[in-house]
Amino acid sequence: MSATKSFVTSVTVPKLSDPTLFRQEAFVNNEWISKTETFGVEDPATGKEIGRVPDMDAKETRQAIEVANGAFKTWSKTTGKQRHDLLKKWYDAIMANQEDLATILTWENGKTLAEARGEIAYGASFYEWFAEEAVRMYGTTIPSPMPNQRYLTIKQPVGPVGIILPFNFPTAMLTRKVGAALAAGCTVVIKPGAEVPYSALALCELAKRVGIPAGVVNVVTSLEHVADVGKELCTNPDVKKISFTGSTAVGKLLMSQSSGTMKKISMELGGNAPFIVFDDADLDAAVEGALASKFRGTGQTCVCANRIYVQSGVYDEFAKKLAAKVADFKVGHGFDANTTHGPLINSRAVEKVQRHLDDAVSKGAKVVAGGKALGGNFFEPTVVTGMTNDMAIADEETFGPIAGLFSFDTEEEIIRRANDTPFGLAAYFYSRDVGRVWRVSEQLESGMVGANSGIISSCYAPFGGVKESGLGREGSLHGIDDYVHIKYINMGGL
Ligand code: SIN
Repeated sequence: MSATKSFVTSVTVPKLSDPTLFRQEAFVNNEWISKTETFGVEDPATGKEIGRVPDMDAKETRQAIEVANGAFKTWSKTTGKQRHDLLKKWYDAIMANQEDLATILTWENGKTLAEARGEIAYGASFYEWFAEEAVRMYGTTIPSPMPNQRYLTIKQPVGPVGIILPFNFPTAMLTRKVGAALAAGCTVVIKPGAEVPYSALALCELAKRVGIPAGVVNVVTSLEHVADVGKELCTNPDVKKISFTGSTAVGKLLMSQSSGTMKKISMELGGNAPFIVFDDADLDAAVEGALASKFRGTGQTCVCANRIYVQSGVYDEFAKKLAAKVADFKVGHGFDANTTHGPLINSRAVEKVQRHLDDAVSKGAKVVAGGKALGGNFFEPTVVTGMTNDMAIADEETFGPIAGLFSFDTEEEIIRRANDTPFGLAAYFYSRDVGRVWRVSEQLESGMVGANSGIISSCYAPFGGVKESGLGREGSLHGIDDYVHIKYINMGGL
């Protein structure tokens, strides 16, 4: 086991070049809304309060929905080119303010400033992508079997959308949904993660500046009333679609609440990603892939490797190489330039990581790197060997920095074990055998596969899961489809 790492919990917050991007109000109808009832938002690295935002309830959410519904009447009539131009301007404004937005993101979420800068660029890329999709919302003409009729289809926006966001990508999860919604001609009411409202509010400030019309983008912040806000979004008949990223348990609840009004649904839910290293793999590349996939965002992404399966012939070598790299990580405040990995989001997240580690160790696993809670929300990036199927990590998403290494013998066995889960978001494997690359890619039950790559997310590619990992696809040429209806027009009497 490595020695306990030192870490920094108190640093000076860099000054924003434009302090007006840090807003402490909700945003409805292009107006900043305050309320006497507020909740505090903490820096997860220090536990210190960053600021306070309104604790909005169901009634205020209903008002925001009314506003979005009103704005839909005009926004849905704009041309694709008009929506393109506005999304492109919003993209430009985000990139022009990348450093300030990254600073706000690190402050509220904890990820390192380097990762936050990356998330701002990744997040902005969805606006650039969907700006370009807004002008390509093509319909079809269908060869008609009837001589006096012509068949065609057009795509139309579904209506106002309720968007419910997680804490782990405060910017990119918002833009991935809002970019598609606005490009399609929908308006939105967004509920950001209660831990991270400031990134969403900074984006609203930029939306207003670039001329996104009033009511098209609305943000309600909530903590104590969060269940009521979610329920209002899901049951209000004026909301025509719900897009949610978060846990499978909450996704199931929101889906059942939405059924009464038959809303269109996008659900990007939990994963339990297998990461498979075959004995013909380039081991150094596999180690790099595992580091990137497992420890991105300190292990707090839905696509993080959760079960690392290594073929028995290369198990020891892979474990040694991975542990050596992980031991070099530096845990600390995201603003400290030496930090490679920031804190977890809160104490509940730390408790879960500790529970998974204790469970594994009590059943015979061995810690070969890290392994300690460091105080506050910090936990050492950890590598554990000797994992077995009866351990919690085999079934549950850790959402934290533990790389648990399981051993396997054959391709057939590992496909079966990898698929033995209700989840199917991402899966990864490393092999240099081209036949195996095809076979395994096709047989893994997941929405996304990294074949010799540990990072797969891109605005160009469809993001989403199968099984209990969700419904729908975000980003890519398919992303806009989740926000439109296809209308068939039969032109008769010709
Ligand atoms: C997620 O964790 O939900 C998203 C990760 C990504 O976009 O790569």
